[in-house]
Formats: sequence, C-alpha cells, structure tokens
Amino acid sequence: MLAAYFDQFNVIRLITIHAFLGDFSVTFTNSSMMMGLGVAIIWLLLKGEKLIPNRWQSIMEIIHSNMRSAVHENLGKLGQKYFPFILCLFLFIAILNILGLFPYVFTPTAHIIITFGLSLSIMIVVTILGLITFKLDFLSILMPGGIPLALAPFLVIIETLSYMIRAISLGVRLFANITAGHLLFVIISGFAFSMISKGFLILSIIPIMILIFITLLEMAVAIIQAYVFSLLTTIYLRDTISLH
Ligand SMILES: *[C@@H]1O[C@H](CO)[C@@H](O)[C@H](O)[C@H]1NC(C)=O
Repeated sequence: MLAAYFDQFNVIRLITIHAFLGDFSVTFTNSSMMMGLGVAIIWLLLKGEKLIPNRWQSIMEIIHSNMRSAVHENLGKLGQKYFPFILCLFLFIAILNILGLFPYVFTPTAHIIITFGLSLSIMIVVTILGLITFKLDFLSILMPGGIPLALAPFLVIIETLSYMIRAISLGVRLFANITAGHLLFVIISGFAFSMISKGFLILSIIPIMILIFITLLEMAVAIIQAYVFSLLTTIYLRDTISLH
C-alpha cells in the first residue's frame, strides 16, 4: 500500500538512446513527455489571433494582460523585455500543475529536480545579467544602505546567504506544495476506499466530502503556485534593472 502512494511519482523511461561515448545515454521519460506536451500546449494557446476571440483566446488575453501589468508594476518600462519569459514560465508551470490533477498523469512539478533546476537556472541568469549590467556595482545589493559600519560584515553575510537561498526556496516552495497536495489526494482517497470496502458506506461520505474540498483547493493551488513562482522571478529580475 505504501509503495502505491508513491507510484504516481515514478519516472518511467520511454525511449533510451545509447549513444556516443561509453555509458552516456539520452533518455526520454514520462517527465520529458509531459514537459514537451506543456510546451506544445503553450504554443497552441499563444497562437490565437482572431479578432473575435474564442473561449481559449479570451482566457489567454486575460492571463496576458494580468501578467503584463504584474511585470510592469515590478520592473517598469525597462523590464518589458522579460515579459515573454515570465508569461511562458507561468503558463508552463500552471499547465503542468493542472494536467497533474488528472488521474494517471505524471506531474513534473512534483519533482524537486525539475523545480530546483528551474529556480537555480533563473538565479544564475539573474546573477549573470546583473553582473553584465552593473559590473561589480551589482554586489552592492548584498550591502543594505544606511547601517552602522560595525554591523556591515554580518549584514553582508546574511544578505549573501539570503540571496543564495532564493535559488533553493523558489524551487522547494513549488515542489513541496504540489507533492503535499498529491499525497493528500492519495491518502484520503485510500482512506475512503478502505472504509467502503469494509462496508462503512455512510461513514465514507466524510473522507469523500474532504476529497471534494481538497480537489477544489488544489485546482486553485495549481494556478496560485504558478503565479507565485513567476511573480517571485519577476521580483528577483528587478535586481538586473535597478540597484535599490
Ligand atoms: C499550498 O499552498 C497554499 C497557499 O499557497 C496553501 O493554501 C495550501 O494549503 C498548500 N497545500 C498544501 C497541501 O500544503
């Protein structure tokens, strides 16, 4: 039973190409398949260009204008160049989270290697872009202004740590929340199932009601977590545009 709880997180090799040098191989997994599907769906959604929008295009226009104003509020005019990236980041995570709510669908965002890979690469790019834009002045974000000189060394250490921890916390927040949601589903439905199979039909209403509530909650969480991830990315990108 315990193994079954975690079955949904199994990464399955679909196609393996043994190639080139020695043990090196390229593997296409169910995780790669879902991420490829996510990219394909984004491409389809962004294609809408009808003058009178259909349902999907209307949804996309709402998302588009919301994300555009979020990027504009945080990054100003100069930050508009980041808007396509932020929009696609939001859509990518939201689509994977939502698809993951369907039974038997693999959820890449419930894997820390995926979310941490995203957040680490984002922070590396933010650091490189900051260094390119401001040269060594960029390091001044590690030194908050207006503090006594005696405290400076401590604050620099704290600020440096908190800057580096961004790369971890951004990914872990998404991974932990999505994984917790999926485990909640499987534990409570397992509970309902064993109640029904032992003949407590009326009583099993309770876990089923909880399950319905959690399903509604997780639908919202799928979008909220994608939004939080892309909004925090926007805020971190601010360091590449202005120093305080
Ligand atoms: C995930 O995060 C949301 C808030 O963003 C919270 O309401 C929800 O309870 C969390 N889910 C789990 C399973 O912890």
